[in-house]
Amino acid sequence: METILVVDDERNFLVVLKSLLEEEGYEVLTAADSLVALDVVEHTDLDAVVTDMKMPHLDGIGLLERIKKINPDLPVIMMTAYGTIEKAVEAMKKGAYDYITKPFSNEELKVTIRKAVDIYRLVKENRYLNQELRNQYNFGNIVGKSKPMQEIFSLIQKVAKTRATVLITGESGTGKELVARAIHYNSPRQNKPFISVNCAALPESLLESELFGHEKGSFTGAVSMRKGRFELADKGTLFLDEVSEMSPTLQVKLLRVLQEREFERVGGTKTLKVDVRIIAASNRDLKEEVEAGHFREDLFYRLNVVHIHLPPLRERPDDIPLLVAHFLQKYAQEVGRQRVEISPEALNLIYTYTWPGNVRELENAIERAVILSSGQEITPEHLPPHLFQSQQSYSDIFKQIPTTLTLPQILEEVEVKLIRRALAQANYVQSKAAKILGITKSLLQYKIKKYNLLS
Ligand SMILES: Nc1ncnc2c1ncn2[C@@H]1O[C@H](COP(=O)(O)OP(=O)(O)OP(=O)(O)O)[C@@H](O)[C@H]1O
Ligand SMILES: [Mg+2]
Repeated sequence: METILVVDDERNFLVVLKSLLEEEGYEVLTAADSLVALDVVEHTDLDAVVTDMKMPHLDGIGLLERIKKINPDLPVIMMTAYGTIEKAVEAMKKGAYDYITKPFSNEELKVTIRKAVDIYRLVKENRYLNQELRNQYNFGNIVGKSKPMQEIFSLIQKVAKTRATVLITGESGTGKELVARAIHYNSPRQNKPFISVNCAALPESLLESELFGHEKGSFTGAVSMRKGRFELADKGTLFLDEVSEMSPTLQVKLLRVLQEREFERVGGTKTLKVDVRIIAASNRDLKEEVEAGHFREDLFYRLNVVHIHLPPLRERPDDIPLLVAHFLQKYAQEVGRQRVEISPEALNLIYTYTWPGNVRELENAIERAVILSSGQEITPEHLPPHLFQSQQSYSDIFKQIPTTLTLPQILEEVEVKLIRRALAQANYVQSKAAKILGITKSLLQYKIKKYNLLS
């Protein structure tokens, strides 16, 4: 049921309006004083306010201003006395939804309220939908609408609540660290440290003391005791990046911490206990590393409790337009703009490229383009040259085609991709594109129409 608040210092009038609107099926609250009214607005889910203009304490305009501060969308209808049209105009300027001049007919009041309530419902629905969309296609600052990304979002949500060890795999630039952070910052450990160690960046001995710390004098250069990352991450999350690069000796030590949650500093004898959640990442296929004898199988199973695999960007083209929009927004600010537009030709080039460096490469390309275009529309010349210098080989194109399709579907996909590429290369001059493809212009036009390629 929709709830209307009626405000008027004439109590008799309130009684009349209340019964009139109740007959219409509204729930009606009344206030004979604008300060009381404000209190109601603040604490009730209202659908509209109808208020008199002339009131003691705070008049109708004052009340309107205060209501707009509490809820800018809530429609406020002003009742003005005959001859005070200037006041009504002022109220409209200040955001009143509408006004009616006393004396008004019942019908006039009912219609005005109905319209206000209906529009407010639409506004609320739209807000809700936007919110939903945002939640649906974003997980914090991870963007993705493709099916695999949607599944990853729900997996993140589930594992974040637990302390389960997570293994994140995926090619370079697919967002492994982003996912690791999302898990930590959505977990009960969010207010404790997120500590990251790149296992590929340090030689074995340094990595060991980096992870476990060392006692004073434990080796040349160990002039003082130093805590390791495990200790620093206590009660928080430790992110072991490039975990496949760990030496066999360190793999054993890591296994022990995972099993027993305890370790010693390098050169130390005291056993330290820690409560650390481990997230590991690798751009290699760890299972293959195990089979090749490079990675301990027992450690693999300890890390692989929950596995999140980030597919390469070329396997989820659905995410590209969304990622482009996301990065355009992000980098627009840097050139002092609210938004930066991108031409369809540029977007098509982006769409057809295979992005071997995945999201990182795409992000860098957009950042560069925004700067080069000085925040004006991005066109192909602002994109890295190799995108339109036909670097994309046929094998790259085949890589983009899901293997689950039937032969006719595969051929169609290949055709579409080749036509898109040729069009982009030819800067959308169709006769040129036809030449690149080795077909007549009319055949090209037929295919463009068939596949709806220029919309
Ligand atoms: N889905 C996404 N939405 C928004 N930004 C993303 C997404 N995926 C990756 N990025 C951005 O791309 C860049 C690379 O991501 P990240 O560092 O997490 O990749 P990675 O998989 O750890 O790469 P590497 O293996 O090279 O370390 C970051 O700037 C990150 O913010
Ligand atoms: Mg990384």
